[in-house]
Amino acid sequence: MKEKIQEIAKRAEEELEKAKDQKIVNDLKVQFLGKKGELTSVLRGMKELSSEERPIIGEMVNKVRDRIEKIISEKEEQFKKENIERKLKEETIDITLPGTKLKKGSKHPLNRVIEEIEDIFVGMGYDVVEGPELETDEYCFERLNLPKGHPARDMQDSFYVSDEYLLRAQTSAMQARAMERNIEKTPIRIICPGKTYRREDDATHSHQFNQVEGLVIDEGITLADLKGTLEVFVKKMLGEKSKIRFRPSYFPFTEPSYEVDVSCFKCGGTGCNLCKQTGWIEILGSGMVHPNVLKMGGYDPEKYTGFAFGTGLDRLAMFKYGITDMRYLYKNDIRFLSQFDKLDRE
Ligand code: DAH
Repeated sequence: MKEKIQEIAKRAEEELEKAKDQKIVNDLKVQFLGKKGELTSVLRGMKELSSEERPIIGEMVNKVRDRIEKIISEKEEQFKKENIERKLKEETIDITLPGTKLKKGSKHPLNRVIEEIEDIFVGMGYDVVEGPELETDEYCFERLNLPKGHPARDMQDSFYVSDEYLLRAQTSAMQARAMERNIEKTPIRIICPGKTYRREDDATHSHQFNQVEGLVIDEGITLADLKGTLEVFVKKMLGEKSKIRFRPSYFPFTEPSYEVDVSCFKCGGTGCNLCKQTGWIEILGSGMVHPNVLKMGGYDPEKYTGFAFGTGLDRLAMFKYGITDMRYLYKNDIRFLSQFDKLDRE
């Protein structure tokens, strides 16, 4: 029986040594150590042995089993390692291969307009500031002289998130914030471009649109400063030949208030389909900052005066580039956007 065990041990070792993969090792495990395996059947024959021989053979079988089990687990380890190494080798990335070419994107016409406006005003010494799109009723209306229940609120129905918070209906909210942020109450000269929201949606109105707000506060600011500034802006933006015209209007946060028209840049003022034969196109709202707004912002209206203006960037972009439907601006269609690339080459 001893010889038989030694022979099994020798064969098991040799065959395991030769085993090339995990499956062969698994089969050998069953063949030698399984319930019906060769070593197990030797144990079964032990009942025929004498009581002196039984413990000796028993110990021998246990030793051989331990040895085979050890070889099997070493083999398993070896295969695992080889597997990982093979995978690592297969998955190496060849960084010398040429990259995948992506089609160049296009600058959005709204961004073109925003950048142009920023350049013009920065050139005149203005800062560009940003404000939150989720705004409070206080900054969007109350601090702009529009208390709750004011009829002029109807012009700007927005999306309320709660009684207190809404998606800002106008970038004018930044007037109040800029005044509050300026703790020392020194002069202010800012523009604030950004997204605004109202409950409207058709070819010339979108529920989301863009405005740019301007605010200047200093001692001795007059309507002449507002006129001069807007004239420079319009000439640089829409052409040197552009003229502006002030029409009296009403905004709760300015007094006096004006709507500003620009001479039609398509026909030059003689009348066409763009200006609806009037020769003029309305482009912005403006006025002298209302004393109440100055007071709420912490500025003494006896000492300081200021002007403000707000313009819709979408309308400006539509006029400037001849876009007929505002909704094109929000479709993100590369065929539409790439039409403006030629402007970069001009
Ligand atoms: N916020 C106004 C609007 O959305 C536009 C506006 C008018 C802004 C007059 C101003 C202003 O700063 O002075 O209709």
